[in-house]
Amino acid sequence: MSIIDSTKIFKGNIIFTPTPNEFFTIENGYIVIVNGKVKNVYKILPEEYNDFKIIDYSNKLIIPGMNDLHAHAPQFRHLGMAMDKELLPWLNDYTFPEESKFKDLDYSRNVYERFIKEVWKQGTTRIAVFATIHKNASMDLMELFIKSGLGAYVGKVNMDLNSPPYLCETSEDSLMDTEEIIVKYKDKSPIVKPIITPRFVPTCSSELLKGLGELSIKYKVSVQSHLSENKNEIAWVKELHPTSNFYGEVYNKYNLLGQSPTLMAHCSFSSREEMALMKENNVIAVHCPSSNLNVGSGMMPIRKFLDNDIRVAFGSDISGGHTCSIFKTMIYAIQVSKLFWANSNKEIPFLSNSEAFYIATKTGGSFFGKVGSFEEGYDFDALVIDDSELNYFNYSLEERLERFIYVGDDRHILHRYVCGNLIEEPRSLIQL
Ligand code: GUN
Ligand code: FE
Repeated sequence: MSIIDSTKIFKGNIIFTPTPNEFFTIENGYIVIVNGKVKNVYKILPEEYNDFKIIDYSNKLIIPGMNDLHAHAPQFRHLGMAMDKELLPWLNDYTFPEESKFKDLDYSRNVYERFIKEVWKQGTTRIAVFATIHKNASMDLMELFIKSGLGAYVGKVNMDLNSPPYLCETSEDSLMDTEEIIVKYKDKSPIVKPIITPRFVPTCSSELLKGLGELSIKYKVSVQSHLSENKNEIAWVKELHPTSNFYGEVYNKYNLLGQSPTLMAHCSFSSREEMALMKENNVIAVHCPSSNLNVGSGMMPIRKFLDNDIRVAFGSDISGGHTCSIFKTMIYAIQVSKLFWANSNKEIPFLSNSEAFYIATKTGGSFFGKVGSFEEGYDFDALVIDDSELNYFNYSLEERLERFIYVGDDRHILHRYVCGNLIEEPRSLIQL
């Protein structure tokens, strides 16, 4: 392909966060993309590009795409319902029965297609998702993501203990199915990948955890799970693993805590030792404030994680969380951080807008590679925001972005790009 064919130039109001401290903005500037990656951003386009065609988004906002680092695809049908129980009863009474339906491929296809449409709609360009224990539906979810053009890490869930008989596997089947999916999908797509997904410690035998750790090392596959979300859950883990000093130590014992790139959702009640180990092993803590508020689990003290240099990303955690929007997740995170601030006599600083944006874009993106910024070499994952309806005074670019996040919605997202490619609304294979 010639340099002209492989180059795309976008014009618009460019906003991103190279650091958490401030927004970098260029008014009606240019982004040059070569082979799907950012070459540079310019206030004035250099002459060498004079003959290139420009994709003109003048007056619109061009921002990095959103990264959702924790979501449960099979819980999409339950979005916005069944919020009257805390975590363990919520799982037993609502979530496990719903997930058991995913042994039926027609059922799973219907829900998964709707889910991916919603992810696309909300401006999420990369996501890490839990599927269910079912191999075929999990592979179908991977195929649907490949077809969509969005980036996704998809985990077949592992559960062989303390799970209802209708949603439980043998350890052998669980490991065999997981390995089959890894072998089939690890090199199939550059941006849709398998990820090892023990549901959480209570539903996995030590034998299963050991086998999953071995698979993650053998195939260099990432890991995702839940950690220290709820006090009853933590007490249960202590009962099941009395010799472990803290919850995360169980994952660590079986090579599932940072021995390969790892996402741990929630971390509401992580001890000092647990946080030290997460930092040492470069684990990403995924903050899911909407879910924590709905299921009443507790709240990650996000400032403590940031102060300790632990990477923090955002997760929607649907359907514990009730929205797939990472923009709305950002707002919940800022609001919750303000409660910590108020309750600490203003000693614990709340999240700034640029910090929240940085977490949603650049830290979240760091799990997927060079993703989440418009610095040189980053994949061009971007959203084009048409906020003209909201922009009726002389707002600055930062104010326009803030207003879009707080009072805008998916109707203001004009276009989505992943790796420089325009991503159209996913089309259904079935009649929705
Ligand atoms: N812990 C184990 N499974 C789940 C789940 O599906 N959602 C949440 N929020 N926590 C969990
Ligand atoms: Fe979750």
